[in-house]
Amino acid sequence: MAQLNVNNTLRTVEAESDTPLLWVIREQLGLTGTKYGCGMALCGSCTVHIDGVATRSCSRPLSSVDATAKVVTIEGLSADGSHPVQKAWAALDVPQCGFCQSGMIMAAAALLREKPQPTDADIDAAMTNICRCGSYNRVRAAIHAVASGKLAGAGLQIQHADGSRT
Ligand code: FES
Ligand code: FES
Repeated sequence: MAQLNVNNTLRTVEAESDTPLLWVIREQLGLTGTKYGCGMALCGSCTVHIDGVATRSCSRPLSSVDATAKVVTIEGLSADGSHPVQKAWAALDVPQCGFCQSGMIMAAAALLREKPQPTDADIDAAMTNICRCGSYNRVRAAIHAVASGKLAGAGLQIQHADGSRT
């Protein structure tokens, strides 16, 4: 038995100490917005915040997270999808199949909290999540839209392999 603070609620869970946090979140707490992709800390689909830091929950054993740590999942980012990152994602139609997107949103929210005006290099360094649908250009555009505070006029800028933009 362990206690976790998830989305500002103290929860008691029954799991082995080496159970990945991802499975506790999904199977015990029923918060299925956090996705399983690789299970090896590679893809980022399982990203949650722990004390504000983007964390790959598939690779954090339950024993490494105590009740003083604040875990936030996509369900806790906002009550109604009104977090600026969620609004930008909707405005720019970032998701395609959507599977990776809760992890992308959590990673972007953590980045913008730490660096409200991220450069492309900051985004490249922080957004290591993998998207099989190739939503990377829209992810970048949405992050810049949040940073600029101009969501209404936000557009999609394509960065090509040679570094040029259109
Ligand atoms: S499922 Fe955690 S990084 Fe891929
Ligand atoms: S939107 Fe399909 S995997 Fe990213």
